[in-house]
Amino acid sequence: MSSVEFKENTAITVFGASGDLAKKKTFPALFGLFREGYLSSTTKIYGFARSKLSTDELKDRIKPFLKTPTEESKSKIDPFLELIEYISGPYDSPEGFQSLNQAIEKFESERKVETPHRLFYLALPPSVFVDVGKQIKEHVYAKNGLTRVIVEKPFGHDLKSSRELQEQLAPLFTEDELYRIDHYLGKELVKNLLVLRFGNQILNASWNKDSIQSIQVSFKEPFGTEGRGGYFDDIGIIRDVMQNHLLQVLTLLTMERPVSFDPESVRDEKVKVLKAFGEINLKDIIIGQYDKSEDGSKPGYLDDETVKPGSKAVTYAALPFEIHNERWEGVPIVLRAGKALNDGKVEVRIQYKPVASGIFDQIPPNELVIRIQPNEAVYVKLNAKQPGLSTSTSLTDLDLTYKNRYSEFWIPEAYESLIRDALHADHSNFVRDDELDVSWKLFTPLLQHLEHEDSPEPIKYPYGSRGPKELHEFLQRHGYIFNNGNYQWPVTKPQL
Ligand code: BG6
Repeated sequence: MSSVEFKENTAITVFGASGDLAKKKTFPALFGLFREGYLSSTTKIYGFARSKLSTDELKDRIKPFLKTPTEESKSKIDPFLELIEYISGPYDSPEGFQSLNQAIEKFESERKVETPHRLFYLALPPSVFVDVGKQIKEHVYAKNGLTRVIVEKPFGHDLKSSRELQEQLAPLFTEDELYRIDHYLGKELVKNLLVLRFGNQILNASWNKDSIQSIQVSFKEPFGTEGRGGYFDDIGIIRDVMQNHLLQVLTLLTMERPVSFDPESVRDEKVKVLKAFGEINLKDIIIGQYDKSEDGSKPGYLDDETVKPGSKAVTYAALPFEIHNERWEGVPIVLRAGKALNDGKVEVRIQYKPVASGIFDQIPPNELVIRIQPNEAVYVKLNAKQPGLSTSTSLTDLDLTYKNRYSEFWIPEAYESLIRDALHADHSNFVRDDELDVSWKLFTPLLQHLEHEDSPEPIKYPYGSRGPKELHEFLQRHGYIFNNGNYQWPVTKPQL
């Protein structure tokens, strides 16, 4: 890994600059870094896309998405927009790329840059990744400097297409030059997982099959495809968030301790644990598709005119996993994800084994909950004596709610954090080629099972519900012990 840091006079190019991702995520993330002082004002930002736009038109498009949490930060907008220049051109022929190169060379020569630093962000559909990669390599690659290329998912559709994509990109860029973004790796609580696990002996010592009853990673979204169904229909929830985001979280939860926090050491351990995952039991999954809401006010998935009539696309899935190694053999693991549910949240739930019965009557097991979003928190459900003269137990918690404890801190958005990492050539929170390969190996048989001619029908669940009713029994079967008490988190509303 290169230890050279991108700092001054970096030329950043955002491909797909006129698209949604660039407008809503990439430019706002660059602005967030600039606003907080983590992106030098010597940076130059080129927007590149096919649309014929002027630089001012591009700025007008992105301006409404730039976040200014304080009055003072509003003054940062104009200096940030000053850094931007727009260049248009097709993705598969040299013209625009040659103009881009001339513009970058002019910038570098005016700034007397000796070692060019060029970062390319591909906010593009995968159908043009390779074309754009080829043009970059031929016309804009920093021959005597450093080139970094950030690519966005999807990295293929299954194992075969992912390998094909990799084979096409590999001759163009080294693994060191490629940054495959999985934005979940940039989320604060996901970045915290290794510190929580390995920095606390209380967790470290109990993080194994002897103490842990079950593990769940769950993702709930309160909205459906809302017009994005055309995109979603061929993808489904499993490719959209499970094969990547949730599996990344699970990998960080279950990997062994790396020899250091060096990116390659971390990624080596991630690959190692992924190789110990058993095959997903295709007979033991829940798949669902949302239907109209019970009151009829929200549409069903098939009402989205952009999806194929009668589509069996999966908008909800609960999947069982097993890891065959000394640490995890026999511990039930469930990943679940759904759209159009009753709630929007992402969390990890580690349930500990029950204590021996005898002195206690029905005492619930401990749970460690890592709330990734919203309202980031880590809390442990704990049994304590009910205060006062009572000797009975009550379920309470140790609660680290970020908004209460860290109210003074700026918590970067995932994209801010990851772009910053790429600027500093830090690969820790990006997906390595072999990691991608093992994750597709794990999911491809399931995807094939769900997509061949006689694929199973997804269970219908109403928009705005908890998902398929079968979940309760499924979780019980996979080791989760439900507690029927009236425990609630958080007890008091956090100070927002
Ligand atoms: C994206 C998916 O990768 O992640 C979306 O394509 C999903 O469908 C999104 O909504 C969730 O990300 P976040 O950061 O909003 O949890």
